[in-house]
Amino acid sequence: MSNGVREILRLDGICKSYQVGLPTQTDVLHNISFQLDSNDFAALVGPSGSGKSTLLNVMGLLDQPTSGELYLLQQATSTMTERQRTELRGSEIGFVFQFHHLIQAFSALDNVLMPLMLNHGKPTAEDRDYARHLLAQVGLEKLAGRRPNELSGGQQQRVAVARALVTKPALILADEPTGNLDSKSAATVFELFRKIQVEYQCAVLLVTHDERLSSACERTIQLFDGRLQSADEHQAR
Ligand SMILES: Nc1ncnc2c1ncn2[C@@H]1O[C@H](COP(=O)(O)OP(=O)(O)OP(=O)(O)O)[C@@H](O)[C@H]1O
Ligand SMILES: [Mg+2]
Repeated sequence: MSNGVREILRLDGICKSYQVGLPTQTDVLHNISFQLDSNDFAALVGPSGSGKSTLLNVMGLLDQPTSGELYLLQQATSTMTERQRTELRGSEIGFVFQFHHLIQAFSALDNVLMPLMLNHGKPTAEDRDYARHLLAQVGLEKLAGRRPNELSGGQQQRVAVARALVTKPALILADEPTGNLDSKSAATVFELFRKIQVEYQCAVLLVTHDERLSSACERTIQLFDGRLQSADEHQAR
């Protein structure tokens, strides 16, 4: 590919079924195929129950598809061991959820450092500097020592964004990251994702119900009843 754009994630015929008390089976995702590149800033949209969170969990290696293949950085993931998948997830994927899941007993800074601690234990001086740098980028340099309950909802969500970035992931997945924020905080967090995508050249995929936000993304991946309706770019870039 030209301009240093790299393939981050490729889904090839992904299906997901849940066994809800045999013999009942629910087919949630049907034959989903598309690709995300390092210059993608995409919205994942669809009605409630259409399979967005399920797809995000599969893309994030939190859940295995029933069939189909998922390539992360051009590596097939279905044949990996659970340990390999966990390592790849820990180093290449950053997650942001609707409710940020910050650890209340930790400062904002230590929350940002958490993924690094999970990957390689005690953070180094460079790790701490980088976490401080990320907190500064999300406008929270002065609040690094505060606990989550001493921060506003929007500030907590920005800590969660900094935490998702600390491992320098190739892919950021966010499930309604602005869902419980007021519109001003939502816009701030959204702009932050945009800035990050450009600066770090990572693929960003956001689930959102907010049409203003999805229409501000360059691409919309649209699900309906577990089927891919479209995965187009809005305009040529
Ligand atoms: N663990 C599970 N077992 C059985 N069915 C499940 C499971 N998880 C999800 N489902 C079903 O899969 C379908 C898709 O769910 P999913 O959570 O992916 O939807 P969604 O698009 O994220 O919806 P929302 O916008 O409400 O968050 C739903 O019909 C749901 O009931
Ligand atoms: Mg969902």
